[in-house]
Amino acid sequence: MCGIIGYVGNGKASEIIYNGLRTLEYRGYDSVGVVVDTPSGIDLRKGKGMVEEVGDSLDFTSMGGSIGIGHTRWATHGVPCKENAHPHTDCTGKIAIVHNGVIENYQELRDELAGKGHKFSSETDSEIIAHLVEEGKKSGKETFQAFLSSLKMLKGSYAAALLVEGEKKLYVARKNSPLVVGLGKGENLAASDMTAMLRHTRDFVPLGEMEAAVLEPRGVAFYSMDGNELRKEPMHVDWSTEMAEKGGFPHFMLKEIHDQKHFLYESLAADVSRAHPLISNAKKIHITACGTSYHASLMFKCLSQKFLGKDCDATIASEYPFISNPDSNTLVIAISQSGETADTMRALEYARGKGAKILSLTNVAGSSITRISDEVVLLNSGPEVSVAATKTFTSQLAVLYRLVFPGKDLSAIPALLGKSLESEIEIKRISESLREKRDIFFLGRGLSVPIAMEGALKLKEISYLHAEAYPGGELKHGPLSLIEPGVPVIALAPNDETVYKMLGNIKEVRARGGFVVSFTNSREIAKESDIAVEIPGSDPLLAPFAMIAPLQLLAYYASVSKGINPDRPRNLAKSVTVE
Ligand code: G6P
Repeated sequence: MCGIIGYVGNGKASEIIYNGLRTLEYRGYDSVGVVVDTPSGIDLRKGKGMVEEVGDSLDFTSMGGSIGIGHTRWATHGVPCKENAHPHTDCTGKIAIVHNGVIENYQELRDELAGKGHKFSSETDSEIIAHLVEEGKKSGKETFQAFLSSLKMLKGSYAAALLVEGEKKLYVARKNSPLVVGLGKGENLAASDMTAMLRHTRDFVPLGEMEAAVLEPRGVAFYSMDGNELRKEPMHVDWSTEMAEKGGFPHFMLKEIHDQKHFLYESLAADVSRAHPLISNAKKIHITACGTSYHASLMFKCLSQKFLGKDCDATIASEYPFISNPDSNTLVIAISQSGETADTMRALEYARGKGAKILSLTNVAGSSITRISDEVVLLNSGPEVSVAATKTFTSQLAVLYRLVFPGKDLSAIPALLGKSLESEIEIKRISESLREKRDIFFLGRGLSVPIAMEGALKLKEISYLHAEAYPGGELKHGPLSLIEPGVPVIALAPNDETVYKMLGNIKEVRARGGFVVSFTNSREIAKESDIAVEIPGSDPLLAPFAMIAPLQLLAYYASVSKGINPDRPRNLAKSVTVE
């Protein structure tokens, strides 16, 4: 994972990079570093901790220079510590690199370099890049040629940026890890995603697989890894800087939960015209994704089987290559807010290899997943910064509903979700009572099952409470043995065809002393529950949109009441570019 950013221009590089790293922090946050080239040489500062913690204590913004690179890390090789933090340098300290990805053959290369006398100061796989470039330069190559030939020796994935003392040029390249070039006026940038560069430009060129670029203040040249120059058309995005800021909310997550009622209009207006025929003509549909996006996939599976009569398998992307057998009659739908998740990419490469057609739903134009797809539907959710996905999930649902119900009026969805947010104070109170609990169960049936799973995932991701979701009917087949007095059970029980079955499940729980918090618009369910949170609306099909935001709020407030930063849960990252 990790976030990288590079700047070259006339501005104060350290400040621009520091701001960019704050935006990129969702990609990893165990250590951070910046290197700039100043008139008196390279200035490199790095340390263990979150971006602001390290940036303020090392006084990043006091660093001079108008060219530099920065990195915020999510450890893969080597524990989080100052030495393993990026940037890394060669033996001379004049060649500095940042890297996102995993170098599979690093040990072999490191041994070879050590044999030639190179000294390493970290346990990372990344550091070898700086030493390989040093070797290349020693053998007489120009920096860019040395960079390209070093990268060609690597097996695995990389988005890398290189800076050499005394050169006013940044060198960047990518393979299986995202990297976007931002085109400014008299300044140019490169970063792991567009949001980190929004203060400077809205014109971007996402680098393609195995492509490189050389950035100077006045322009950017793009190349293949063989060194051939490429023509690239920039794309313009209309995301604003405010979209990637907290806007008065204490955390991005809370802002993004509230933003849903606005962005859902945009998502419902997404262009699905080319996706429809793909779905109608498909003999078989496979849908694949990870995490929260997988829960959206499950919703599509339920809807398409029930309402379109289509056979549809939903498979977790990391499992897809092992258990699926797509062919040229298969439509594979990938859902990924970032469009960069490595597991999802690998699943799609596998499906592509078997001749399947690919339709993807993503929030990021130009992302890797869009490039492997035959058709793309953009979610239009605006940038999502908090690690826990919220608004992109409801956008995914909105687009999926459009795909399944082309003729249905779905315009009530944004207001329905907006109304459900009125339970915020009540939810906050409930979440405080969950704080000391050990296990929490979420139950639902039918369309509420994917929502229950998402509610449980949100809670465990950001509050570290153990939460599991089950279809209500499964309770008696095992999990009921865990219900004892006081165990909280969150029951999703809208007034639909599942309501009486859910009533039975609630009774089973209460008979064993479980504490039931229901989300419902049924009086009977409310009467049987210890606490009933009223959900708005009466259309059973839209009930998922009436329940999801309160569940997101439940997780948010549980996290805050435990003193956790919900935007930066431990061990997780938003964009997971390693398998
Ligand atoms: C990570 C994030 C999750 C997200 C999952 C899939 O694990 O922490 O919030 O749901 O990746 O991400 P994607 O970008 O493919 O939707």
